[in-house]
Amino acid sequence: MNPKLESQPFGITAKGDEITLFSLSIENKIKVSVMNYGATWTHLLLPDRNGKMEDTVLGFDDLEGYLQKDYQDNYCYIGSTVGRVAGRLSGNQFTIDDKTYHLPPNQAETHLHGGIEGWDKKIWEAAPFETDNSVGITFYYKSPDGEENYPGTVEIWVTYTLDITGKLEISYRAITDKKTIINPTNHTYFNLSGDFHQSIEDHEFFVDTDHYLPINENSLPTGEVAHVAGTPFDFRTPKPISEQINKKDEQLKLAGGIDHCFALKESEICATLYHPGTGRKLTLSTTSPGLQVYTSNYLNKSFIGKSGVRYDKRAAICLETQHYPDAANQPKFSSTLLLPGEVFKSTTVFAFSVEK
Ligand code: BGC
Repeated sequence: MNPKLESQPFGITAKGDEITLFSLSIENKIKVSVMNYGATWTHLLLPDRNGKMEDTVLGFDDLEGYLQKDYQDNYCYIGSTVGRVAGRLSGNQFTIDDKTYHLPPNQAETHLHGGIEGWDKKIWEAAPFETDNSVGITFYYKSPDGEENYPGTVEIWVTYTLDITGKLEISYRAITDKKTIINPTNHTYFNLSGDFHQSIEDHEFFVDTDHYLPINENSLPTGEVAHVAGTPFDFRTPKPISEQINKKDEQLKLAGGIDHCFALKESEICATLYHPGTGRKLTLSTTSPGLQVYTSNYLNKSFIGKSGVRYDKRAAICLETQHYPDAANQPKFSSTLLLPGEVFKSTTVFAFSVEK
């Protein structure tokens, strides 16, 4: 059956901007919703092994939820498009051609996920489209020169496409008029159980890589690309998250769980996430070199989400495909520099299935 595209009002911002919720769906198979505030992924309804459709991503029932102070103060970026640069930059700065750019801190002393008003808080232009075998939305935002102290006017297009087989693709394209850095990602929090009171520790996780990036006490990569053998970051065969995350380990202690980037190799499938209780399975493919995995270590019931649930630590797992964090300051990491005339591109595909 051909996917269907629908839209409905989702709320109005304090400045009076009307926000629209767009839904891409195939009956009884998948329903993905996204909105033009933050080019945010808000809902993902999937069947369990009995055909029961449930929402499997954290979020809020309406725009008001996303704008509530208790949520905004927590810097959680639920479902958001994150940019210009995902993660942290050491010293809140980077240098291009001998000029150092100092970035404003937003989370305590840290410049995180694009700064005080990153792309997650912008209103994006939305262009819905339909083809013979897919439906989708392209979100567009023009980030002015100097926004959050980053150089260059950056134009960015984020496209969500649902194809006839039920695969969701998120693709990014960006250009600049001055040398700058860019490392966008999507920050969706998955819980395939469909019950956001439940921890994701019972999910089985697989990442097709031998290497991950250890972090320091500021949650920045140390620069080492370490082997996963003998560490809790060894998901080379599918393992329940609980089996790894509760080990006594200095790296887990630093982050309060997993909040680490995996160095991907060029494999067809880079990761899978499976919930044995419901049979729901997510299969991830990407062109990005890194996968930041974050087990929602800092959620602490401080705000109210969908259906009144207060999201707690481990209520979800984020799978953020991107360049390695702090790449701008780490010469050994693949570059996040974008030059005028170049086009930044990356694509991530989420496929979903149900195991009997
Ligand atoms: C980061 C975490 C951060 C979280 C929520 C993740 O991508 O790696 O350190 O707390 O996002 O903002």
